[in-house]
Amino acid sequence: MLSGKRVLLIIGGGIAAYKSLSLIRLLRGQGCAVTPVLTQAGAQFVTPLSVSALAGQKVHSALFDLTDESEMGHIELSRSADLIVVAPATADLMAKMATGRAEDLASTLLLATDTPVLLAPAMNVRMWEHPATQRNLAVLRGDGIRFVGPDEGEMACGEYGAGRMAEPEAILAAIRAMLVQGPLAGQHIIVTSGPTQEPIDPVRYISNRSSGAQGAAIAAALRDLGASVTFVTGPAAVPAPDGVRVVAVETAQEMLAAVEAALPASAAVFAAAVADWRVLNAASSKVKKDGTGQAPALQFVENPDILATICRGDARPKLVVGFAAETDDVLGHARAKRLRKGCDWIVANDVSPHTGIMGGVENSVTVISAEGEETWPRMAKDAVAAKLAARIAQALHD
Ligand code: C5P
Repeated sequence: MLSGKRVLLIIGGGIAAYKSLSLIRLLRGQGCAVTPVLTQAGAQFVTPLSVSALAGQKVHSALFDLTDESEMGHIELSRSADLIVVAPATADLMAKMATGRAEDLASTLLLATDTPVLLAPAMNVRMWEHPATQRNLAVLRGDGIRFVGPDEGEMACGEYGAGRMAEPEAILAAIRAMLVQGPLAGQHIIVTSGPTQEPIDPVRYISNRSSGAQGAAIAAALRDLGASVTFVTGPAAVPAPDGVRVVAVETAQEMLAAVEAALPASAAVFAAAVADWRVLNAASSKVKKDGTGQAPALQFVENPDILATICRGDARPKLVVGFAAETDDVLGHARAKRLRKGCDWIVANDVSPHTGIMGGVENSVTVISAEGEETWPRMAKDAVAAKLAARIAQALHD
C-alpha cells in the first residue's frame, strides 16, 4: 500500500498519455494521493477533465496560475510531494530537464524541486536512439533521476523498437520501490560486476565474456529493497542500473582500490569476473610486429583476489557473497572456493557454453553456505537477483 504517500504526476505530450490515466487509478487504489500536472502538449492527448476526475484533484497546467497568492506556488507544489513522476516523459521534457530550462509549469517544477524524480520515457524509437536523447539520458542519470522503461515493441506510429512507455503496472512497481521503506533501508552494500580489462599495451587488453547482467540485476534488486548500493563495475555490456552509486573501473587493481574505498558496508556481493592474471610487461606504446615473425612474449603476474582480500581485511562486511562461475565439477570447485576465500556464501553456476548462461538472460545457481546448499531452478537473472537480495535482507536482520 502507498497510504499517506503523495505523488506529483506530470503528464507530457505523447500518445502514451492515455496509459497515465490507468496509472492514476492504480496509485489511488493503493491509497496514494495524486496531484496532476498536464503539459500543454499532454492536453492534446488526454483532457484535463478526465485527469482531474480520476485524480480527484485540480489539474495544474499553467505556470502563471500559480503566481496568485491564493494558490500554492510552484516551489511548494514541487516539494509537497514524496515523489515526482513524469509519464510520459517526452524527448523534449528530458532535454529541458537536462539543460535546466524552466519555461513552463512542468519544467519549472522539475527544476525547483529536491524531491526524487522518476521518468517513464515514451517516444518514437529514432527519437529515443538519437544521440541527443541518449546524451540527455546520461546527464539525467548522473543527476540522480530514476527511469522506468522505455519498453521495446510495436509503436503507435507503426515502427518497432525501444520507446514505448512502460506499462502502468511497471511504473507502479518502480514508484513503490522508491516510496516504500524496504528491509535494507539504511544498509550500504557493495556489488562488483562485469569483466576486468588488463592492458597488454595502450590499445590491447585481456578480458573475458562477462556481460555484467547478473551483477547489474543484483545491484538493482538490493536498491529495490532500500539498500544504498555502491556498484563497482568493469567495462560491462549491460548498463549500470539507476539509483546506485556507480564506480567504473577497468583493471582488477582498480576494482580492489574502489571496493576498499567504498568500505565500510554491511554486505558485499562479488559478482565480477575478475581476470586472474595481468600482463607484467604491459607496453607503454603499441606493440609492433618486428618483421622476424616472432610473437611478443607476454609475462603474467597474479592479480589481487578482491574477494579474499576483503574477507581477510579489518573492515570485512558482516555478509560477504562470492560467485563461482565454473565449467566442470561446479559444486566441488565452489565449495573449495568458499573455504579458500573466506566468504559466507558462494553462488555457484555452470558457465559452459552449452548452458547459454554467460551473456544470456537466465541463470541456474546453487547457493552454498556453512548451513548447507540450495539449488534454485533455472530462472531469469532478475529473478535470481531478487531472490538473492531477499536472502541478504533476511541474513542482515538475523
Ligand atoms: O575467478 P574466481 O572463480 O576465483 O572467482 C570467484 C569469486 O571471487 C567471484 O566472486 C569473483 O568476483 C571473486 N574474485 C575476486 N578477485 C579476483 C578473482 C575473483 O574478487 N581476482
